[in-house]
Amino acid sequence: MRMLWAAAGLMVTGLSGVQAAPHGVPPAAARFKADVLTAGKPDQGRVALMAHELARELGEACPFAAPQDARPLEACKGRLYAPRSALRRHLPAFVLWGRMRDAALPLKDTHLTQFGPDVFSATYLPLFMFDGNYTVAYDERQNLYRIDFVAAFRNRLQPGLYPYPFWHEDNKWSIYQGTNRLTAWVGIDPQAGVEKVKVMQFSALGAPHAAVPDKIATPVFDPDTHAKWLWTDAAGRTQPQVTLFDGLFSAGNPHLKSLDEAYRAMALKFRDGDCMSCHVPNNPDKMKRLVLLQTPAHAASEIERVIESVRDDRMPIDEFGIEKPMPTRMKNELLDQAQAFASVLAAARAWEAARSAPRTPAPGGTKG
Ligand code: HEC
Repeated sequence: MRMLWAAAGLMVTGLSGVQAAPHGVPPAAARFKADVLTAGKPDQGRVALMAHELARELGEACPFAAPQDARPLEACKGRLYAPRSALRRHLPAFVLWGRMRDAALPLKDTHLTQFGPDVFSATYLPLFMFDGNYTVAYDERQNLYRIDFVAAFRNRLQPGLYPYPFWHEDNKWSIYQGTNRLTAWVGIDPQAGVEKVKVMQFSALGAPHAAVPDKIATPVFDPDTHAKWLWTDAAGRTQPQVTLFDGLFSAGNPHLKSLDEAYRAMALKFRDGDCMSCHVPNNPDKMKRLVLLQTPAHAASEIERVIESVRDDRMPIDEFGIEKPMPTRMKNELLDQAQAFASVLAAARAWEAARSAPRTPAPGGTKG
């Protein structure tokens, strides 16, 4: 692995290539001037370790591969989704995700989507491939460290392997396909009190490299099926399959069917409450920090906040951002369905946890 260290804005000429220590040891590249290390700023040693761990995991678990091949995607997903993965350990309760269209635009003025670490590590990040190369720099303007990973996007997968049709918007799909770099913005997380990856952005603003696949023509976006964000394919399966925990929960999980049904029942109530006129990928309300609710996986990472915000009459709101209380009956029905979805989700997770709990090997060493 080769890394470049730069204390941006301080020592532009101090850019220097260093060889990484083989494993586990962060580079001894204390090339930051002391004035970067003032109180309240992330600790550069810990950020260095984080960058090294993340790059190693991404490079090993999600290496460059053919952009249509679903097997490396599944392998990558399995590693990143694991609760103790480096990625999961370095994400806060909610991570912000989006395109970097303009390198000069401050993050606070950027449209980003909020994700729970589970849905993010399972359905978004595995769509990218890595070679383990990265750079770390301190960005004075943002007051955050940035880790830039060399990356490429899998642009030829089956549609159901994307959490929603990214090609509903040409510009979005074009940047996804042309991604050559993924940027992780690292700051102190007020909740955890330590450095976390607060924001991640994909972009084509890095150096061009050979693993970026040729672009394919934007697939036809059929608003009648895809704009529903959740659709049923010719074989009668709910799509996108990844948003039904496909590959995360085992096919034998007895709760999968009820999870799908519970989501659909809740989604009808979301429609009554007008939630889906705002909480969908095309972001009609132009939310700065978009919350998505349009599939089971997206709703799963938000379900606690859904219940709280509806119970406390903070949601829904009107187009002016003013609370718009629902009729009591509608509100109670929504809360009932949301609670039902949360219970099925908990049961499905518990089933997976019990299944993967370490067991005493049977005599002869065969697995139990
Ligand atoms: C007119 C657009 C609009 C509608 C309709 C709407 N929301 Fe929101 N929602 C927003 C915006 C904007 C935010 C961000 C609020 C903020 O952070 O200030 C938000 C935030 C949220 C959040 C995150 C809350 C948190 O704790 O951070 C949840 C959950 C949510 N909405 C659920 C719902 C549900 C459920 C409905 C339907 C009952 C709904 N919303 C209807 C615009 C809308």
